[in-house]
Amino acid sequence: MQSDALVLFGATGDLAKKKLFPALHELVRRGKIHDMPIVGFASSDWDTETLRQHALEGIKQYGSHFDQDAYDKLAQMLTYVRGDYRDPASYEALKTALAGAERPTFYLAVPPSLFATVVENLGSSGCALGARVVLEKPFGRDLQSARELNKAVLSVFPEESIFRIDHYLGKEAVQNLLYFRFANSILEPVWNRNYVRSVQLTMAESFGVQGRGRFYEEVGALRDVVQNHLLQTIGLVAMEAPSGIDGESIRDEKEQLFRAMRPLTPDDIVRGQFRGYRDEEGVAPDSDVETFVAVRLSIDSWRWSGVPFLIRAGKSMPVTATQLVVEFHRPPVRVFARDDDDYHRTNYVRFRLGPDEVSVALGARSKAPGDDLRGQPVELFVCTEGPDEVDAYERLIGDALAGQRLLFASQQGVEATWAVVDDVLYNHPPAIEYEPGSWGPKSADRLLPPNDIWHEPGPIF
Ligand code: BG6
Repeated sequence: MQSDALVLFGATGDLAKKKLFPALHELVRRGKIHDMPIVGFASSDWDTETLRQHALEGIKQYGSHFDQDAYDKLAQMLTYVRGDYRDPASYEALKTALAGAERPTFYLAVPPSLFATVVENLGSSGCALGARVVLEKPFGRDLQSARELNKAVLSVFPEESIFRIDHYLGKEAVQNLLYFRFANSILEPVWNRNYVRSVQLTMAESFGVQGRGRFYEEVGALRDVVQNHLLQTIGLVAMEAPSGIDGESIRDEKEQLFRAMRPLTPDDIVRGQFRGYRDEEGVAPDSDVETFVAVRLSIDSWRWSGVPFLIRAGKSMPVTATQLVVEFHRPPVRVFARDDDDYHRTNYVRFRLGPDEVSVALGARSKAPGDDLRGQPVELFVCTEGPDEVDAYERLIGDALAGQRLLFASQQGVEATWAVVDDVLYNHPPAIEYEPGSWGPKSADRLLPPNDIWHEPGPIF
């Protein structure tokens, strides 16, 4: 059933400005929400007008289209409640602002350390009755804290009213991984250890921590993007076929896969920190927090046993791009022996997951024109990005308001991914300094199979 109100905790923050208000503006523009109270809640000394300005700036700066009419409608729905997240009286004020809404959605865009406090107060004030709650990642700091948090949230909201956001799951390109795999039969026969030599997933960002030093100090790349976005992506690439496209079937298959992932050990991880990170505001002068991480993951399943899954993510890299490459074994015999040495580097499927390009490519070799039987690398390439693509947050907020859980993470899934990284969160080699604009520490090469290389985004030949 559709929610009849939305409360944004942390409405004055960065996430609200960059992602949530632009998404709400799009939902209004497309007619998906109308005439619904949207209450911004935060501790800053703001009023409704200041919040509207904050929303307007965010929409103009970060949104895809600006539509004055949609903005005016959204502005009319917005009100601001100033409150203290820890003070029960603030939740009474919130109730008044909700003016009798029966099925509100509470969106927690606040630091994770406040999740339990806000949820408890929603429970004791009676605000939680009939409501849904949306929780931003990271959900906990490790396996133990995720379990405790799940317990705290489940004591107030039933599982079907809890929406754990991982915005990667709302991305068009990430959904296409699932679609492309299971809507075509050509991949299935080769999608296993008999044919696949390795899988590589790279999430590179050319920028640093962009003023989020304090946040990053508590998190680091492993917690920020690997435990959630990147393991969820691997989940879609490597899981078995779900029995249907309902959320439960997909979540069940992904959870099975997460449970088959071998917990990472210090040997499986290389950590890096870009030079200059320690000068960021809020960063300790002797910080060991990683801004780059590379891991070698093993999946102990019938399908994937022995196939290395190589994941790397970093800030201050040469480019901003996320790409997944499934590389197949080399042909057993070099029939066309005169071909050059990268003969083998052309058997792959490549998924470019953004941000500027969303595509699927099949890397192959084809005869080069001429008298000789010489080849050249080519890609059969499909660009899947549409002109009016729905942003991940727009899709996920729309789904949460409608009560659709398909694209949200489950308690078991979140705990299973924490279990994969749990040991190396605390037990790891020190972060190695790397030059901003480079591909991170050279020692990440030690994770690769013999004679292999890390692929840069783009065709890999
Ligand atoms: C967020 C991380 O979850 O994802 C950020 O906290 C990261 O550090 C961002 O930059 C990347 O998201 P996207 O959608 O831009 O790839």
